Amino acid sequence: MTSTLGRALRRIAVLTFPAHVGLAVGAATSPAQWLADQQRIAAAQPDAARGQKFFTSKHGRDWSCSSCHGDAPTAPGRHASTGKTIAPLAPGFNAERFSDTAKIEKWFRRNCNDVLGRECSAGEKADVVAYLMALKP
Ligand code: HEC
Repeated sequence: MTSTLGRALRRIAVLTFPAHVGLAVGAATSPAQWLADQQRIAAAQPDAARGQKFFTSKHGRDWSCSSCHGDAPTAPGRHASTGKTIAPLAPGFNAERFSDTAKIEKWFRRNCNDVLGRECSAGEKADVVAYLMALKP
């Protein structure tokens, strides 16, 4: 009885372990790869100028993306409510940006909800990333 249960539990552990690793770490990506993914989902051409306008404008609420990431996301930003420093968002100035799909999705979801009161569309994400990638050191 006990050993049967033990075997069953071990099997569950083996079966679920890889899924947990996948959730915690997220898939590796790159700014260009992630942009290509969003572009394919949106089925539209990304536009860096539109991305800049989206990033620096308010959308009916108190904050824009710039409120925390700065008007020039090439330099560190400052969190609008906690005052904490935020490392530069533009990948040309911070090599860790847009390298982990789970992190990217988590923060887009949270930040878009704060700024727009909804999730961002794939087209909006593609525009923002096209803008951020256009910023070169
Ligand atoms: C209230 C403050 C705040 C606002 C407003 C905000 N962000 Fe952020 N954002 C953060 C924080 C905090 C992090 C996580 C810390 C970090 O990654 O440095 C973050 C991380 C991110 C990331 C993760 C990128 C990566 O790969 O590391 C993206 C993408 C992002 N923000 C986009 C946006 C966009 C687009 C907007 C506007 C819709 C926005 N943010 C508005 C605070 C903010």
